[in-house]
Amino acid sequence: MTDRREVIEILNDLLSLERGSLISHLLASTVFVSRATAREDLAVRRMVREIDEHQRWLVDAIVGLRGGVAPGRPDPRAAELHYQELRHVLPRVIRNEQRIVEEYEQALPRLGAWPEAAAASSRILARHREHVRELTSFMTSGAPPAAGSVSAAK
Ligand SMILES: [Fe+2]
Repeated sequence: MTDRREVIEILNDLLSLERGSLISHLLASTVFVSRATAREDLAVRRMVREIDEHQRWLVDAIVGLRGGVAPGRPDPRAAELHYQELRHVLPRVIRNEQRIVEEYEQALPRLGAWPEAAAASSRILARHREHVRELTSFMTSGAPPAAGSVSAAK
């Protein structure tokens, strides 16, 4: 069984993954900003808010276990994303999301005996699965999106 110290370590690893999520950098990408539809822009802004919320849930779970929250570090991988074409940026962001999903899937069975940690992590996992689905739909909707694509998708 996973002990308290290990659970805190797992939660800190998940927190570090959330901090390293590449989604937030889409908003700083000039290519995304100029080509995204209003619907895609809103979806990404919502995902970024959700990632902030995930971090608060993980911190609450860590503090609830009387654990120490590891300090965050800036992610140097993200800076270059700002200048890349959307067709290169989106696949990277999707791969990053898929990796986050896999890490949660691997962590969850180890959190089974810790209900609050497991509940927070499975809520977050469901969100990230949805993020992968939504981001993938951006790819299939084509870039640059046609002017009528928002109404056509309704
Ligand atoms: Fe996500």
